[in-house]
Amino acid sequence: MKVLTIVSHPRRNSLTFAVAERFVQGLTDAGHEAEVADLYGEEFDPLVFEKDEPDWDNPQKRYSARVHAEMERLKRNEGLAFIFPLWWYSLPAMVKGYIDRTWNYGFAYGGSKLPHKKVLWIPLVGETEESLKKRNFDTMISHYLNVGLAGYTGISQSEVAFLYNTLAEDMESGEEIGKHYDNLLQRAYALGQRYGDSVDAGIGSAGRRN
Ligand SMILES: Cc1cc2nc3c(=O)[nH]c(=O)nc-3n(C[C@H](O)[C@H](O)[C@H](O)COP(=O)(O)O)c2cc1C
Repeated sequence: MKVLTIVSHPRRNSLTFAVAERFVQGLTDAGHEAEVADLYGEEFDPLVFEKDEPDWDNPQKRYSARVHAEMERLKRNEGLAFIFPLWWYSLPAMVKGYIDRTWNYGFAYGGSKLPHKKVLWIPLVGETEESLKKRNFDTMISHYLNVGLAGYTGISQSEVAFLYNTLAEDMESGEEIGKHYDNLLQRAYALGQRYGDSVDAGIGSAGRRN
């Protein structure tokens, strides 16, 4: 499968990029064709200006050249993966703006749907799993991504794979922290390697909007 991995982090030597690198390795080792969109590296502008504002009367509207190029990149891939740090229990503004600008009327919704078979969301979570779940943030975030975004745009399979405790604040020894990060990177690799499994098995959507 052709899979576009969309990575958002201001720093190349971040854990987010290390996760993305392992994920893409897993994808390619499993025989997928991997393409990467490095939103900061490509200096993607997440702001929606008038040129890219949807026109509810015109699903054929011509958007800016940058948005059309991005829509082409989205179209030539059958699957998507988003890798980003969780910021304020949500998508970083860069990823939100990418979606605002490119999942546009007439392309992602409004008489048309996104062509992708699957989207995998990989948020890097600073806090522990227990802490995120205590206030049901995991459910809130998953519902938003699976139903609000993937369901609305017709991507039949949407999954969220949280990578928890990226700040390792509850760990003291260097050895323990090193092991924890190794585990996160191994999980990222496995997520890439198994990306196609549920698609091949034809497993239905968690987020389809009826
Ligand atoms: C602006 C900002 C907001 C953040 N908000 C959250 C949050 O809501 N929940 C959380 O668990 N971690 C939060 N964090 C921590 C990040 O998720 C954490 O720094 C990241 O996962 C570590 O990966 P990185 O080294 O690649 O940045 C936040 C960090 C920043 C900079």
